Amino acid sequence: MTHASHPPHSSHDWPESGYDLARGLAAYTGSVLVDGIASVIAKHPQANIANAFNHKQVLCKLWARNELLRNAGSDYDRIVVLGGWYGVLPAMLLEDTRFNIQVIDSFDIDPAVEDVARTLNSGFGDRFRAVTADMYGIDYRSLKADLVVNTSCEHIADLGAWLGLLPSGTRVALQSNDYFSEPSHINCVSSLEEFEIKAGLSLIDFAGALPMKKYTRFMLIGAV
Ligand SMILES: C[S@@+](CC[C@H](N)C(=O)[O-])C[C@H]1O[C@@H](n2cnc3c(N)ncnc32)[C@H](O)[C@@H]1O
Repeated sequence: MTHASHPPHSSHDWPESGYDLARGLAAYTGSVLVDGIASVIAKHPQANIANAFNHKQVLCKLWARNELLRNAGSDYDRIVVLGGWYGVLPAMLLEDTRFNIQVIDSFDIDPAVEDVARTLNSGFGDRFRAVTADMYGIDYRSLKADLVVNTSCEHIADLGAWLGLLPSGTRVALQSNDYFSEPSHINCVSSLEEFEIKAGLSLIDFAGALPMKKYTRFMLIGAV
């Protein structure tokens, strides 16, 4: 018997069928992001884009996008995303016509993700930039970002030390979670309160928790 959520497929027709499906979805929806996913499947078959764009990841980023709009506004000259991975959140923000965003810079320490992020966001032209860098080594003052986003706080050793590098008053959106069992999560938090204490923001416009099946995601929007 086959479980309904895991339809059978033969491994030899993947990623070809994934590419066909994504191209079809892009044509049907007119989505630049989905077209970018098709290009990633074709050009970077080694990239785990299915993980980065699974429904839990998408729900967490839709949550971020909606609360950002509600709590931080729609107009940005430069958004800087840290631990940006394949650039899914930048693509979701750049595609959303409720926002008016000039440029999003996505920084990640892993050199393997830079090209994938570029491919995913290629339809947004020079509104997107991917850079390989350690977020602890960036000169944030020179970036002049009007919003700094880090939805990978569970992946960095010292949240307070990183936030201390941002110019005082910088607007931020942060996500972490209590998914302790995932080996790459080196700095989870057990509760929203613990996240608030670790971040030590000078202003909090939004603090919330989004329960998922295996873990809860936490988000703070405010300023350092
Ligand atoms: C698995 S991904 C993102 C997960 C997260 N929940 C999300 O989608 O927003 C975490 C990313 O953080 C990056 N990362 C970890 N430490 C970093 C650092 N010091 N500077 C920049 N990027 C970092 C990793 O390379 C990885 O691509």
